[in-house]
Amino acid sequence: MRVVVVGTGIAGLIAAHRASKHHDVVLVTKSRLSESNTRYAQGGIAVALFPDDSVESHVADTLRAGAGLCDPVAVEVLCAEGPGRVRDLIALGVEFDKRDGELVRGHEAAHSSRRVLHAGGDATGFAIESALLRAVRRRAIEVHEHTFVTDLVVDDGIVRGVDVIAADGAGHRILGDAVVLASGGAGQLFRHTTNPAVATGDGIAAAWRAGAAVSDLEFYQFHPTALALPGNHLVSEAVRGEGAVLRDADGERFMVDVHPDAELAPRDVVARGIAAAMARQGGRPVVLDATGLGADFLRARFPGITTACAERGLDWTVEPVPVTPAAHYAMGGIRTDIDGRTTLPGLFAIGEAACTGVHGANRLASNSLLESLVFAWRAADALDIAGSPLILTTEGDSSFAAAFGTTPVDRDALRDLMWERAGLERDAAGLREAAATLAGWRADDPMPAGREDANLLDLGRLLVHAALRREESRGAHFRTDFPEPRGVWARSAHDARPVAARV
Ligand code: SIN
Repeated sequence: MRVVVVGTGIAGLIAAHRASKHHDVVLVTKSRLSESNTRYAQGGIAVALFPDDSVESHVADTLRAGAGLCDPVAVEVLCAEGPGRVRDLIALGVEFDKRDGELVRGHEAAHSSRRVLHAGGDATGFAIESALLRAVRRRAIEVHEHTFVTDLVVDDGIVRGVDVIAADGAGHRILGDAVVLASGGAGQLFRHTTNPAVATGDGIAAAWRAGAAVSDLEFYQFHPTALALPGNHLVSEAVRGEGAVLRDADGERFMVDVHPDAELAPRDVVARGIAAAMARQGGRPVVLDATGLGADFLRARFPGITTACAERGLDWTVEPVPVTPAAHYAMGGIRTDIDGRTTLPGLFAIGEAACTGVHGANRLASNSLLESLVFAWRAADALDIAGSPLILTTEGDSSFAAAFGTTPVDRDALRDLMWERAGLERDAAGLREAAATLAGWRADDPMPAGREDANLLDLGRLLVHAALRREESRGAHFRTDFPEPRGVWARSAHDARPVAARV
């Protein structure tokens, strides 16, 4: 069969490589083959690979971080299949860092064990992306770079391919027996993000327009520490894992008053702790103090961050650096089963574009590369039965879909609005205001940048709608007007997992 894979991060490359053993594969990306969120991943890939660790412990940590919303079956698959898949990744040429012949084990927040593998110090994503690109190039895979997927081709309820704007600016249709969306998240929805410019949620928006179920979009993870300077370069959680601390304008370690685990509390707690400290000091960023780790260690273990600081005139080996929370990862996305099947026959979704249920309301650090790896592999192996969609018995909610305004959307205004009203803290009044503003905007420029705006607008509306409906606080979704979790909301809005079935 002919398989169209959209996106070239770890999920897309693994799916393309694996599927090419048995199928004809067409790989499509809107940028260069090497550009993706994966490329910028620093901390690493979490996996229970060591004798003093266990799959059960990884499962327990993942479920705890997910705040009651994880799909336990999907989490079990993730953690149990992780070690085998990571060995496969090594066989594909990824060289994780070693010391004295042994894999080096990083530590990140909310893990009860040191289980995060990294490569090139803090260049894990780059190492994975580079090795997988070499592997993909060895296969007879048809590649289309600079090719923007505008929409899915749906015929008689079945996904048959994608409509694209190709590198020459012309519209084309690429047909296939199955489409695999590995098109990533949408960090560009927010003023501050660690994501590259390509992260505009194109696949999620296209799938939703085609009628696929999406869920958990209200759960957007804000990484606590991006440089509070243009570009918002990520400062890996692994830096705090090694002992760096956060300080306010008075030099105080404010996180010790917020959570017993201080700087290594769950991401949402640290991100909100930083936001509160920033609010107390008139919006000025807090600082991350890594000076205690030693210059030699910082340069060797975190060469990318060292360079990023230097490029901005900072030497983090001798001075604390300003940091801010920034949008980092979409827990929600296109709803799938554990083989990547969506609710539309012929359509699969993997990686950050998918909502497999492994992250629940909050993703455990360094579980994202693992999720992409494990579920892309499974989806590639499940392609032969592409005609069997996941059935969700709950109804989708399209009550807001008709909102189509008159004012041309401005991307910066959209990102500011989402940051202010639908960011780290939300309430009904702010979300209603955001919904009304978003409803008044339109994006109908047919060129790729305009299509990205339209996708962001669709996703902004979906996210705000979901956040307004979830009248509680859970994981990454914090409502100041409903600051506690509520039992009635201990489920995904579109959650039909307990009654999901395949035909
Ligand atoms: C980081 O290095 O802090 C990011 C890791 C992740 O997002 O899981």
